Amino acid sequence: MSARIVTLPGDGIGPEIMAAAEQLLGKVGDFELDERLVGGASIDEHGTALTDEVLDACKSADAVLLAAVGGPKWDSTDPGKPRPEQGLLGLRKGLGLFANLRPVRPSPALLDASPLRRDRIEGTDLLVVRELTGGIYFGDKGRENGSAFDTCVYSVAEIERIAEVAFRFARTKVTSVDKANILETSRLWREVVSGMAKEHDVYFEHLLVDNAAMQLLSRPVDFDVILTENMFGDILSDEAAMLTGSIGMLPSASVGSDGPGLFEPVHGSAPDIAGTGKANPLAMFGSVAMMLRYGLGRESEAVGIESAIDRALEAGLRTPDLGGDATTEDATKAVLSYL
Ligand code: IPM
Ligand code: MG
Repeated sequence: MSARIVTLPGDGIGPEIMAAAEQLLGKVGDFELDERLVGGASIDEHGTALTDEVLDACKSADAVLLAAVGGPKWDSTDPGKPRPEQGLLGLRKGLGLFANLRPVRPSPALLDASPLRRDRIEGTDLLVVRELTGGIYFGDKGRENGSAFDTCVYSVAEIERIAEVAFRFARTKVTSVDKANILETSRLWREVVSGMAKEHDVYFEHLLVDNAAMQLLSRPVDFDVILTENMFGDILSDEAAMLTGSIGMLPSASVGSDGPGLFEPVHGSAPDIAGTGKANPLAMFGSVAMMLRYGLGRESEAVGIESAIDRALEAGLRTPDLGGDATTEDATKAVLSYL
């Protein structure tokens, strides 16, 4: 039986890169695709960024592939207005996807495409393990008498289960990133993760998030697994993306303890280039590879896609974000030709 994948193109460049991903999937194998609305597209149609029906369809799928959500059309500071991002957060929470994996491995062909010098980034191969369903993203928030508040909460169990993932993926080292000099949630985080480190045979260190942001640029090669909470992981992974040359390169997998995973590029909906055909589909292709690997247990096809991406880049493929003029279509053709 072919795997059933719910596809969520979303907004902005989302539909363009999802179309590219569908071409890729068509070449890789036989999949049953079920396309649904999420984000701004769902707000326009149903008044909410995620309907129960779409969440149910995702729950019963083998995997969920999402492109991007958001855009100026739905931007508002009015707390009563629906936001596209609520669709994504609703999926993460609704599917119990507490672990977000963001591998950062610059393609050899792009070592000179990063704003950082080649000698700084050569050899970088790290994984950001970001907690995805807790922290300030999901705590109590609101407005009261001219003030606004966002609450950051973490339980021991939430910290343990994400740290477990980090230790499982570590090859040489786990760097746990927090702000334990200021935040109580970070002190609990540090306490729990330190205790777990004693039971694992890998090098372990703590870094404060501001220092981690700096070291990610000064010595990226020294990182293996970066374990961190929701918002720090959001920020550090965008920063780490630039080690690969462009935010258009970074894929991600979001997984829980059971049920389907969700796979999506780290970048957003890039409304400024939506509809121009210039979006870089490579982060999306990398996310398809992660879906095959972690969501569908098809490792060899995942590797095939990843090496096709590297070879296309090696042969000179550059979309505008990488300083070239290849279109989404050109990039798709190039990668397909190396599969
Ligand atoms: C990401 C994005 C999301 C996040 C947004 C779109 C809600 O920035 O996946 O990194 O903040 O988690
Ligand atoms: Mg982000």
